[in-house]
Formats: sequence, C-alpha cells, structure tokens
Amino acid sequence: MAKLTVRDLNTRGKRVFLRVDYNVPLEEKDGRMVITDATRIVETLPTLKLLIEQGGKLVLAAHLGRPKGQREPSMSLRPVAAKLADLLGCNVNFVDDCIGPKVEQVVNAMQSGTVVLLENVRFYAEEEANDPAFAENLAKVADLYVNDAFGAAHRAHASTEGVPRVIARRGGQCAAGLLMERELKFLGEELENPARPFVVILGGAKVSDKILVIDRLLEKANSILIGGAMAYTFRLAQGYKVGKSLVEHDKLDVAKSALAKAKERKVQFLLPTDDVVADPVKTDKLDKKGKPIIEWQNPRVTSDPNCPDDAAGLDIGPATAKAYIEVVSKAKTILWNGPMGLFEDKRFAEGTNAVARAVAEVTQKNGAKSIIGGGDSVKALNKAKLGDKVTFMSTGGGASLEFLEGNVLPGVAALTDK
Ligand code: 3PG
Ligand code: MG
Repeated sequence: MAKLTVRDLNTRGKRVFLRVDYNVPLEEKDGRMVITDATRIVETLPTLKLLIEQGGKLVLAAHLGRPKGQREPSMSLRPVAAKLADLLGCNVNFVDDCIGPKVEQVVNAMQSGTVVLLENVRFYAEEEANDPAFAENLAKVADLYVNDAFGAAHRAHASTEGVPRVIARRGGQCAAGLLMERELKFLGEELENPARPFVVILGGAKVSDKILVIDRLLEKANSILIGGAMAYTFRLAQGYKVGKSLVEHDKLDVAKSALAKAKERKVQFLLPTDDVVADPVKTDKLDKKGKPIIEWQNPRVTSDPNCPDDAAGLDIGPATAKAYIEVVSKAKTILWNGPMGLFEDKRFAEGTNAVARAVAEVTQKNGAKSIIGGGDSVKALNKAKLGDKVTFMSTGGGASLEFLEGNVLPGVAALTDK
C-alpha cells in the first residue's frame, strides 16, 4: 500500500523526528574516528534539504554499530554530526543522549529549519527490544515522523517501529523520506513488471542468505547468474568436488530444489564453468575476531568443474565471465546482489569487475535499468569507479535482501497509508 512521503507533509514549525541510517564504516586514525564511506549520509541530504526548506525542526535519530545497550565511545554518532554539518553546509547540533531532559531542552529551543542529531539510540537496550516506554520517550520531542532509514527498516526497533506507532496513535503523520521512497521504488515497483530480458546476478558467500530471494526471483527472472562462494554449494549439489571451497553442506537440498524450479520454469540458470582457485595457507596472524588469517597461494584458473582437493574457488574464471557478460549485454533490467568472488583481493576481483563493467555498459549504451542490492556489490562497483554508471544502488544490506524476498518491512509498515 502506498505510504505518505515527506512531500505530503506540512512541517513548518513542527518537530520532525527523522530516522536515518547513519550506520557508516568508521576507522580510528590518530585517536579520532574517521568516516571511511559517507554514502549513507550523502543519500539523505535531499530529504534533509527539503525538510529544512519547508521550515521543519529536524530531530535526527540513528544507530551506529551494535553496542548492545552500552555507551560505547567508539560507536558515538558525534563524528557523523560533524560530517553531516560539512555536507549540509549548516550547523548540526549534536546531543550526547537520545532521550531525557537534555534532549527536550535542546529541541524546545530549536528554530525552524535547524538540525539536531541525537546520540546512538542503541546505547539503550530498549531500542532493539522495541520497548514501548522508550518509544514514548523518544517520541516526546516529535510532532511528525519521517523514516529515511531504509537500511534499518527490516528491524522492528523503537526508533523504526515504536515511535511511528506512538505518533500515529496521537493523530500525527508518519511519512517516508525521499531516499526511502527511491529504495522502495527501485527494489519494489521497478521489479514488479520489469522490461525483459530481466537478468539477476547473485553472488556472495552463502546460499542460505539468498535462497528466499532466489526462490522469489525464479518466478520473475529470465536468467539467473550465480557467482561467489555460493556457487560451490550448487556445484556440490550437482555432484562435483569442491575441494576447500566455502560450502554449506546443509543447504544441498535447497540448492537442488532451486535448480529443479529453474528447469521447470524455464529460467536460464547459469553456474560458473571455470574458476580462479588458490591454496589456503594459515598464517600466525590473527584477524579482528581472533581467527588465523588465511593467505591464498598459487592462484590459477581451472576449467574442471571439480575443484582440486587442496584449493578453494575464489572467483569465476574468464570463460564464465565471458558467458555472463554475454547475457548481461542483452538485458533490459538487471538486479545484482553479491560479488562474484573475493574482490577485496585483486587476484580474485576480475570476475566481479568484468560483470560490473558489463552492467555499467549496458546501462549507459542500451538504457537498461540496473539495480544494485546493497552491501558488497555496491562496494565492488564503487571500488571499480562505476557506481555512477548504474541506475540505482541501494543503501540497505540486510534490508534490501529482506525486501527482495517479498517481506513487508516493519519500518515501512508503521508509516501512514496515503
Ligand atoms: C545495516 O548496516 O545493515 C543497517 O544499518 C542495520 O544494522 P544492523 O544489521 O546492525 O541492524
Ligand atoms: Mg547488517
């Protein structure tokens, strides 16, 4: 059902509680937290500018990381406030709490057209618990509610679900922001009746993450191209050897039934026919989680669908890339979610990059619509400097997958119907 958007609101002089997804990557540099990718902030600027122009008083709420109800200084939104002020070209008043007298005092003193950013809502465990009293407390400083946090809309948390319910109960309006509206349009409406051929490219580590999406898209797509480690679960299901490739042994049935459904529905379902493989060698270096870092040695292309015993598949091979490019070059609509290999390592990035170039080219030259589900595929496109050559890149990771599965997102459901 269609929801109200910011354009439908009269926000002049009103306090607008604006939920944004500013869960951005941060890195510590010289004792300071620095934002390494501000895309999620940049993408909310049109909504903010519109609301400022309308003369609303903007009270921004967001989460950062998973502090689990603790005040975790490295997960403070303070650096985000500074970045936002830079990007907006106006002052952003940061309050180091998200509820309580300090917040009320600051908001009550606000002028029309000004912006306040509240501290990380997940510093309270009540946020993720969607605690009703906490939602009431957040809603104390709000007349209207706007959700521009598509990336967090799959969470039924206080700031995404509880607050709009409180405001609606009081008779206040709850609307989608412009980014939210675009996300729902491209990942939703645009894929309802796509121009054909409709080609879906799916990659990433796990079949289990994507199986519901695969199942749903098998009803719509003309072609599905599979890459990434999840291809090896399909290979194993077909009876091939996968060596040391990452596979989900408990998902073989799921893979088999997807293959059967593709056949039955006459969907072209392509798996890699050659691979770039390498031998894993454990080092004594540890990663952030304390696990030994694996070094990949002796990278090589193999055309045998059976992976060598001591090696793991890490990228699609050149023949597969060529076949995928061929399909992509004829597409009118493309949905891409998940890289074709371990693209962070340039020895295993060529498959992903080749597909990225093909998607960009068919968009630019043939006017195909290319829609990129969030997360790693967006990272890969940006890394290849092709981010501005596709039609749309989602800011949602988990949210875009859940939405593509056909789920109603709680953060969207809570908004006011048109
Ligand atoms: C994301 O980064 O995917 C969103 O901000 C949601 O974060 P979460 O997975 O910690 O709920
Ligand atoms: Mg996530």
